Amino acid sequence: MNRTIRDQYLVFGAPAIGEPEINEVVDSLRSGWLGTGPKVAKFEEIFRQYVGSKYAMAVNSCTAGLHLSMLVAGLKPGDEVITTPMTFCATVNSIIHTGATPVLVDCDRETMLIDPQRIEEAITPRTRAILPVHLCGRPCNMDAIMDIANRHHLLVIEDAAHAVETVYKGRKIGNIGHLTAFSFYVTKNVVTGEGGMVTTNNPDFADKIKVFALHGMSKDAWRRFSDEGYKHYQVVYPGFKYNMMDLQAAIGLHQLARVEENLKRRNEIWQTYNEAFADLPIGLPAPDELDTIHARHLYTLMIDKERCGVSRDEFMQKMHQMNIGTGVHYIGVHLHPYYRERFGYLPEDFPNATWFSERTVSVPLSVKLSADDIEDVIRAVRITLS
Ligand SMILES: Cc1ncc(COP(=O)(O)O)c(C=O)c1O
Repeated sequence: MNRTIRDQYLVFGAPAIGEPEINEVVDSLRSGWLGTGPKVAKFEEIFRQYVGSKYAMAVNSCTAGLHLSMLVAGLKPGDEVITTPMTFCATVNSIIHTGATPVLVDCDRETMLIDPQRIEEAITPRTRAILPVHLCGRPCNMDAIMDIANRHHLLVIEDAAHAVETVYKGRKIGNIGHLTAFSFYVTKNVVTGEGGMVTTNNPDFADKIKVFALHGMSKDAWRRFSDEGYKHYQVVYPGFKYNMMDLQAAIGLHQLARVEENLKRRNEIWQTYNEAFADLPIGLPAPDELDTIHARHLYTLMIDKERCGVSRDEFMQKMHQMNIGTGVHYIGVHLHPYYRERFGYLPEDFPNATWFSERTVSVPLSVKLSADDIEDVIRAVRITLS
């Protein structure tokens, strides 16, 4: 059938929730244990094993995980953290929340990832940490970043919101830098609704994250209402309410069980898109770097009005009219009013990030897509550009 417009709107980033997740949430509801409990502990353990890190601490978002990571790393006002403008605002907000100053350096024109050479050029006596973002699921150049960090005695705190499955030269992301934060937000590869995880191999960081994530109450405070009898807690830090609930972990347990199977499926969709779009006057995702596994979180097209005849925003509007949802990941941090006004950024300060910000658009890549959905996306892209 030669349909140009779908009957139903294809939502960008729809999560694939199975019966096991539904049953597990119902089990939590029936048990009465909704908050942080045994399912969070189990989810932390299987995530830890999946990543291969020594510690994994569940939190209620990646943003919370980044904020806590920077706090336990001791960042404070006056410190500088080098990161990329090509990211979600949460990356930079979490630096600002610690009182430290974000220092943006431009991304690479091919991969959209932070450029290690520019990191080195931006180091000052106040630099304390590097915050690479594994955008779209593609690993940053961690050899170069760790080398810079070691030579300058800097911490590496990774934003792995898109990178649960990512592997860099045989090493899982979450097991390379000093602290790594993952996201389980509803559009991500592994979802818990809202949720996040921090991994580290440092026991001191791990202990502190646990404590800071739950009001600053002494370790294992969540056990205080268990059948082991009441235990007094002690507050050792003015902490946060960043803990994950068992209701969220109930979803995550079954999502994580399917993580590799889902990656295989998204790999197939990725290849299908690569072939279907190869002859179009648009930019496609850069090829994978040698000896890496890309998590296939976002499939991004670059729409250049001069080449395509339509701007990125016109493209999105036309896709929307054909009932296909798309997303923008991202309009660079340096182009948003708050950061522009506070830090005086100009578009030309980060020419590559500005170039991407004007052209990038993500098309649906969820494992929930049926064969018909994928065909609809391809047809709509081709019609829009014809
Ligand atoms: C690159 C990046 N960093 C951080 C976050 C924040 O994740 P969360 O919503 O779990 O706080 C996101 C979420 O979209 C993201 O895309």
